[in-house]
This record gives sequence, C-alpha cells and structure tokens, in this order.
Amino acid sequence: MMPDEPLDPARLRALLAFYADAGVDTALEEEPQNRFAEAPPAKPEPSSATAEARAPSRESAPSRPRPTATPAAVPDEAQAARARELARQAGSLEELKAILAEFDGCNLKYTAKNLVFADGNPEADLMLVGEAPGRDEDLQGLPFVGRSGKLLDRMLAAIGRDRTSAYISNVIPWRPPGNRDPSPLETEICRPFIERHIELAHPKVLVTLGNPSTKLLLQTQTGIMRMRGNWAVHTTPGGLEIPTLPTLHPAYLLRNPAHKRLAWRDFLAIKAKLRELSGSPRPED
Ligand code: URA
Repeated sequence: MMPDEPLDPARLRALLAFYADAGVDTALEEEPQNRFAEAPPAKPEPSSATAEARAPSRESAPSRPRPTATPAAVPDEAQAARARELARQAGSLEELKAILAEFDGCNLKYTAKNLVFADGNPEADLMLVGEAPGRDEDLQGLPFVGRSGKLLDRMLAAIGRDRTSAYISNVIPWRPPGNRDPSPLETEICRPFIERHIELAHPKVLVTLGNPSTKLLLQTQTGIMRMRGNWAVHTTPGGLEIPTLPTLHPAYLLRNPAHKRLAWRDFLAIKAKLRELSGSPRPED
C-alpha cells in the first residue's frame, strides 16, 4: 500500500531494496489481471520505418519466447494427450529439445524467459531430476545454477562427480511464475517429456530430488522422508527399468542443514550402486 504523501527518492530506494531482499522479482499492479484471458502478444509488423520506430530495441526488450501458434490459454487434458504423442515422436535428446521448444500447450512457457532443458553430460551413467527451474535457472536456461544448484554441485563433488559425469534436468522445463507450485495439469502436460527424456538419456542410475519428482517418477503418494534412501525402479514408457534413489532436495537441505547427513548417506549409496553397476569391485576409488 502506498502512503498518501509522495516518498522522497532515498526512501523509495530503501523500499525497493527491501522488496529485492525479500525476493520480490516481479512488478505487479494493484488490481488483479486475468492474463490467461488476454490474447497472445502480437507478432511485430513487417519491417517498415514506422513499425521499427514503434518496436522496442533488442537491448530494451527482455527476450521472451513468442508463441509459434495459438497457445493454450489454460492447459487442458487435450494438451496432455498432445504432449504424450509429441514426446513419443522424439528419437533423440536433440529432437526432444526441439519439440519442447516448439510446444505451445503449456501456459508456463509464456511467463518463462527460457526453456530449461538439461545440463551436464547426457552420456553419463547418473541422471538427477529436480522439480522446476527457479529465477536463476530461468535467466540462464540451465537447471540448478542458483543456490540449491551450488549445493547440488558440492554433493556431487563429494562422490567424485561433476557436470561432466552427471546429467541434470527437471520435471517441469519452464519456471512457474513467482516460483509457485506447478498445477497437477501442468505437471501432467510436462510428464511425457521428462519420461521420454529419461528414456533417451538411459542412465544406469536415476536420482529424484525431493517430493514432486519422486512422486511423479515413482508413481507414489508416499512422502520423501519415507522414500529417501530406499532404492526403487523407474519404468520408462518404453519399458526400461532404471534403478532410482529418491533423496532430499538441495533447497530443502539449505533450509534444514541438519538433514544433510541423510543426503550424504544417500549419495554414498548412489556411489556404491554406480560402482556395482559398472562392474568395479573396488570399495574405494
Ligand atoms: N530447484 C529445482 O528443482 N530445479 C532447479 O533447476 C532449481 C531449483
């Protein structure tokens, strides 16, 4: 709420700094707007002196993916069916990424700045799947590059791995606005893509980070505290069975550092499983 008398510039600066510290990264209006009801942004007019004069310059306009066709205003079941069909058609990770980049059936795409597909080595025997990109990931177009990503890197380093020897992705490839939870339908629309992603990467070991990816990929309602540290199997749409270990999400560990010891145990189990599956009998590398 704004005070009646105008704020002086120093107080305004302090107020903005306060909002930035509190994690506010989006300016909203006083009155709610139904953005879903709005038409998609118009394509720029064909180049003419007037059109160019009106169009914002590349530098001043933040890059934002434009819809390639009429987008789904609010996602529906038909989009989930379309996603399943499109994901099936992908014959390689490159094709899957291209299909996702073109896909217009998930509204999250229109508030995100970038598609966050994956990072790391797609040939690696270890794949980790989180929930959804946050602000840093959205800006860079890469998963786990913010604070929780830094912790994930340290956890991987503890078992001798980094992004050249691990492959990382998320269930949801676009940042939900304001880091809200993805809706069940948004998750259902994105599910075929991550399932095909795992199938095409075909890691020897899959790690689900936190509750949402564990519940989705292991088709369970059991919470992460009971699931973590227990080996399970993720079955891909084509029937591949991949040993899967659920563990705690690094963002949770940042809030609950006392539980890092549980994650440490899980990562030792991951290391042992990878050694076992590679046929190496050595207890220590
Ligand atoms: N949390 C996630 O689940 N994924 C990311 O990429 C970043 C934070």
